[in-house]
Amino acid sequence: MSFPLVILLCVGLLEQTAGAVHMDKLADNKICGDAECSYVVSMATVLDDFIAPDCRFINLRLGQKVYVYSKLIPEEGAGVFWSGSVYSERYVDQMGIVGYFPATMVNETQKFIENTVKVATTNMDFYCD
Ligand SMILES: *[C@@H]1O[C@H](CO)[C@@H](O)[C@H](O)[C@H]1NC(C)=O
Repeated sequence: MSFPLVILLCVGLLEQTAGAVHMDKLADNKICGDAECSYVVSMATVLDDFIAPDCRFINLRLGQKVYVYSKLIPEEGAGVFWSGSVYSERYVDQMGIVGYFPATMVNETQKFIENTVKVATTNMDFYCD
């Protein structure tokens, strides 16, 4: 086995041990219902199919309902992204799957919280595994 290959294999092992995939933050701040972002801010209806481009995002289908948990405050020139999960009658199907999607993909139909708060995002907000 050649020397560079051994090094590559070691680096690969290290990355596997680390587990998480490092992804860039989509924004530095977000709007939430509370400081912990634990409450659903609003309910929205999906206007078009959306295929998640990477593990930070979730897939959406036309007509689905989504719970919105946070709204990223867009950086200059960047798109507007919200985080949420798809509402399903068969709750187990979607349970725990939270991810980002473009705000333009949904129509907000019901607001649950009026007094929202601005919270700084952390790398954990964009954690993938
Ligand atoms: C969003 O929902 C409202 C109320 O249900 C509706 O009147 C409006 O046409 C919808 N907008 C879009 C872009 O579908």
